Amino acid sequence: ATKTPKRVVIAGAPASGKGTQCELIVEKFGLVHISAGDLLRAAVAEGTPAGLEAKAYMDRGDLVPDEVVVTMVKDALDCEEAEENGWLLDGYPRSASQADAIEKEGITPDVFLLLNVPDEMLIERVVGRRLDPETGAIYHVKFFPPPEDVVDRLTIRSDDTEEKAKNRLAVHHSNVEAVVGRYEGKIREIDGDRAKTEVFAEIASILDEM
Ligand code: AP5
Repeated sequence: ATKTPKRVVIAGAPASGKGTQCELIVEKFGLVHISAGDLLRAAVAEGTPAGLEAKAYMDRGDLVPDEVVVTMVKDALDCEEAEENGWLLDGYPRSASQADAIEKEGITPDVFLLLNVPDEMLIERVVGRRLDPETGAIYHVKFFPPPEDVVDRLTIRSDDTEEKAKNRLAVHHSNVEAVVGRYEGKIREIDGDRAKTEVFAEIASILDEM
């Protein structure tokens, strides 16, 4: 029998490890990864009208208005690959209205993974993050040091300063409960303050059970 494609949301504070876990989930389960933040950064880099509008909000660490984000995410989900292989939605929904917007289209996750990491850990994770623009790999200067030969090409996200991360964190705390409230019975809280392989082992066992 063919397996039903998994439909997964992953949520958590800034730098809680969503992107890091998504890399591992995609590798093992082959889900289509749709990251609201990545879609927005791509639009900003391309200078599309949506990107131009989003930029100021992202620079401050505020949520981008629904008119910009909702269509982007809906369009990304609306593809054969996501329907056939299942999807992994990262960083969306971040408000009750965003949850309603996909629900109206009949887009419902089977499970809502929520990564919990204490606030004091998150700032250190944010400021030490480094990204490889060629492979998409996520490193950390202390926790996951990059190999010597890629160091020169690594980039730092413009919103990864301590000040902006504090605002991103405040925005997260003021929205998370409303979102969680929409997915009662589907929430799986995961302690994200452990080695990434341990965090992934728990996520993998949840997804295997589905
Ligand atoms: P987005 O790109 O989603 O950023 P975020 O939520 O702040 O999350 P991050 O990408 O910072 O962190 P992450 O959880 O993926 O952590 P990572 O794995 O990289 O959003 C950016 C902006 O876009 C928002 O501020 C907003 O403006 C806008 N936006 C996005 N979605 C929106 C929406 N739905 N509506 C409106 N606006 C929206 O890990 C972080 C670091 O920690 C890395 O260095 C990593 O190596 C390290 N690390 C990871 N796991 C571990 C571990 N287990 N132990 C030690 N270190 C670890």
